[in-house]
Amino acid sequence: MDHFGFKQGEMYVEDLAIREIADQVGTPFYCYSTETLIRHYTVFCEAFIDHDFLLCYAVKANTNQAIIKTLAAQGSGADVVSEGELRRALKAGIPAQKIVYSGVAKTEREMTFALEQDIFQFNVESVPELEQLSRVADSMGKVAAIAFRINPDVDAKTHAKISTGKSENKFGVPWTSAREIYALAAKLPGIRVQGVDLHIGSQLTDLAPFAEAFQRIVSLIEDLRADGHDISVLDLGGGLGIPYDREVSKPPLPLEYGEMVTKIVGHLGCKIIIEPGRLLVGNAGVLVSKVIYVKEGENRKFLIIDAAMNDLVRPSMYDAYHEIVAVAESEPPVSGDAVANSVTYDVVGPVCETGDTFARDRQLPELKRGELVVIRSAGAYGAVMASTYNTRRLIPEVLVKGSNYAIIRPRPDYDDIIGLDKIPEWLD
Ligand code: LLP
Repeated sequence: MDHFGFKQGEMYVEDLAIREIADQVGTPFYCYSTETLIRHYTVFCEAFIDHDFLLCYAVKANTNQAIIKTLAAQGSGADVVSEGELRRALKAGIPAQKIVYSGVAKTEREMTFALEQDIFQFNVESVPELEQLSRVADSMGKVAAIAFRINPDVDAKTHAKISTGKSENKFGVPWTSAREIYALAAKLPGIRVQGVDLHIGSQLTDLAPFAEAFQRIVSLIEDLRADGHDISVLDLGGGLGIPYDREVSKPPLPLEYGEMVTKIVGHLGCKIIIEPGRLLVGNAGVLVSKVIYVKEGENRKFLIIDAAMNDLVRPSMYDAYHEIVAVAESEPPVSGDAVANSVTYDVVGPVCETGDTFARDRQLPELKRGELVVIRSAGAYGAVMASTYNTRRLIPEVLVKGSNYAIIRPRPDYDDIIGLDKIPEWLD
């Protein structure tokens, strides 16, 4: 459930009309709902009420300080994958002992910084990374608490670019050689083995691949314990999908996911960590944009909006579906029509690539220049993946709480972008 809906004929976020924010901030912009964020966080925690449980928000989904701070205030931990993300999580007030550090290749510098902070756990992804962490920790007189990210060789049945749990993927250590790798870790200085970790992919819409992977991990933990390792932490990663297309897709609810987890791993008595990103922030955010022109092609109608692939890359990068809705509510549909007075549009941005397409053949009410649309489910992997391609400015982010809003990242000036370039002296 989210807090975006229609009141008095137009779209609201919580108690604020989107049009009002657009008038003041200008378009395009990202707009997030505090209530929705908190609700998603709470629903996840309720699903794990019977466990020693820590939710580590995968901050890569949306790293804005205000978003992290909102979740930190609820008690959230963080899953980070770089020094930058670790710094952001700490700065937003997440205690180091609630932070796990994932990522396929942590550098010496990143390890040093994380060890100085005394984070809760490193999720180690290879033997060379383990050996490096041991060297760094030992030289600092520190002990790194670790889990290995296990690659369970399970097909997550999601988009190939965000599937991570097959043996051909670069992630984790093979589950088949995990026992030898744990034995090696137990002998190394500066290392304390405490857990097992996995993350098989993102936007999973079925529980079966999770269940298959978790079962594999249970038998591994039993073997590791028999080998004498003290395994007290089980980090199950993130990956639970969201309904991008509410009409069609009904991914499992956090409660159902929690029940499945309890059934499969509950008896192990481990501290359970999960690392959701998308499920917390995805449907807590929309991208608000304005129609620049309606262009009649030879046999297509293009709705050209002022947002583009550089602002939200998911449709062009993963062929992702995002609902697009007019901010002004349309008349109730007449018989047979999905949308009243509907027109079939290709919704595109102004960037000079055909890939700059948000949707093809999308039925929308008839729209004119200057009218507003929102692209829904844009809170996760939206702003964080934006670029300044075509020398377009990064777009603002706005956080709503009740009838208040705040700009949590302003629109930069052109000088801020162009001024980053430096001219060598021979061109001066
Ligand atoms: N933990 C680890 C180790 C991860 O790599 C990820 C996401 C997560 C947790 C959070 O997964 P989530 O709950 O959000 O599915 N840019 C892509 C998604 C990339 C996901 C990368 N890893 C997209 O826009 O679909």
